[in-house]
Amino acid sequence: MRILIKDNYRDVSVEAASMVTTTLRQKPGAVLGLATGSTPLGLYEELVRIHRGEGLDFSDVTTFNLDEYLGLTGEHPQSYRSFMDENLFNHINIRKERTHVPDGSLPAGDAEEMCLEFEAAIRRTGGIDLQVLGIGGNGHIAFNEPGSSTSSRTRLVALDERTIKDNARFYSSEDEVPRFALSMGIGTILEAREILLLATGEQKAQAVAAAVEGPVTNQVPSSALQLHPRVTVILDEAAASLLQNASRYRFIQKAEKQVGVQLF
Ligand code: PGA
Repeated sequence: MRILIKDNYRDVSVEAASMVTTTLRQKPGAVLGLATGSTPLGLYEELVRIHRGEGLDFSDVTTFNLDEYLGLTGEHPQSYRSFMDENLFNHINIRKERTHVPDGSLPAGDAEEMCLEFEAAIRRTGGIDLQVLGIGGNGHIAFNEPGSSTSSRTRLVALDERTIKDNARFYSSEDEVPRFALSMGIGTILEAREILLLATGEQKAQAVAAAVEGPVTNQVPSSALQLHPRVTVILDEAAASLLQNASRYRFIQKAEKQVGVQLF
C-alpha cells in the first residue's frame, strides 16, 4: 500500500484529483469507480475546476458508483444518484448514460437481477481502471459492513447500526435513514486495476489504522485492500494519527519524490 499523509483536507482532495486526472490523460476512455459521502466532495470540486480551467475531458469516461440506498428513487434528494449529479456529473461533460449508480427504486425482490446486470455492465466496459473509496467509521468500504466476505459481489445488504447513526446527519431523524442498500462487493472492488482510498478527520483514525496496519479480517472490511497490489491511501494528519508506522510512510513519501516513481 502507498500511504500519503497530507496536511489537510484540501491537500488530500488536490492529490486525489491529480491521480484521477493522470488516469484520464493516459486513458481518455477510462472507467472510474466513484464513491459518495462527505470525503470525496473536495475531490469532485477539484475535478470540476480542472475540467473548467484546464479542459479535462470526460466525454469518453464511464463511471460506476459503489452503492445506493434501497427504497430511494434517483430523484430523492438523499439518493446517491442525486448526490453524484449535483456534485459532479452536472458540472462536467460526461455522458449521463455512461454513469451507473445501482437502482435503489426497484423492489427488494428484483435486487439480485439488477446487481447481476450491474456486474455484467462493469465487465462489458473491460473493468474499472481506478476505484475511489471512502471508509466508514466502522471500517466499511462501500456498504460492505463488518462481517462481509472478501469475495462478496454487488448485492442487497443491511446497514450496520453505526452506519445508520453516522448517516442520520443527512436526515431529520435516525428513523428515516434507509436500513438496506445495494452495494458493490469487496470482491468486485478488488478487481479494479487501481484503488484510491481517502480518509480525513480523527473520527476515521481508528478505522484507518485497522485497515492499513491491522490483520486482514472480515471484521474490518477495508483491511481486504491489503490484498490488492495497487492501493494508494491519502490521509490528512488527523486520520493518520493512530498509524504506528507514520514516520516510515512519510520517509517513503519523500523517497518517491527523489526517485520519481510510486512505491506501493
Ligand atoms: P463519509 O463516508 O465520506 O461521509 O465519511 C464514508 C463512508 O461511509 O464510506
